[in-house]
Amino acid sequence: MKICFATNNPNKLKEIKSLLSSEFEIIDLKSIGCTEEILETHETIEENSLEKAEYVFKNYNVPCFADDSGLEVEALDGAPGVYSAMYAGPQRSHKDNVDRLLKELKGKENRSARFKSVITYIDKNGHHAFEGISTGKIAEEPNGSGGFGYDPIFIPEGETRTNAEMNLEEKNHMSSRARAFKKFVSFLSEYSLNE
Ligand code: IMP
Repeated sequence: MKICFATNNPNKLKEIKSLLSSEFEIIDLKSIGCTEEILETHETIEENSLEKAEYVFKNYNVPCFADDSGLEVEALDGAPGVYSAMYAGPQRSHKDNVDRLLKELKGKENRSARFKSVITYIDKNGHHAFEGISTGKIAEEPNGSGGFGYDPIFIPEGETRTNAEMNLEEKNHMSSRARAFKKFVSFLSEYSLNE
């Protein structure tokens, strides 16, 4: 079964392919001819995830899923949340975002945070959403060179290392996207049997 993953992020594609059995072939946006930027215009992670999946399904008519994620920091009332990608400005720089977050948290004792990911799958029968949460805390300074985004400053619960100090398999073990994706995969395995 061929499914398009509506992302241009090679890190996410790699993460997700590593979790999937060969029964499903994940194709990217380029291979269906979608090269335009897909907008995220909403104020929630759930709505943005649906918006991206719907855009691809309506315009390219392939079963498709999209994800949207954000980092919610307790001491910042849930910020940067849905605005995680552009927290430090439209340049979407991971380093600038990390620097801004560390600045905002300077002197704050509560460093609790969570990643939230929502994956929305859509095909001719409708759409389904799957949520994954990974709780943890924000480190005092960046560490590690793996992953992307806020990985160098996110320490998942029960760990002493940041996500960026782990290999892909270790990160996948507890990442919010992997958790959402595992729910999606178990849905798909039953769903494809009934198709
Ligand atoms: P997106 O909209 O799902 O791409 O996520 C928005 C932003 O959240 C990204 O630009 C990253 O800064 C951050 N983010 C999403 N997933 C991860 C992750 O697995 N690790 C670290 N940061 C992430």
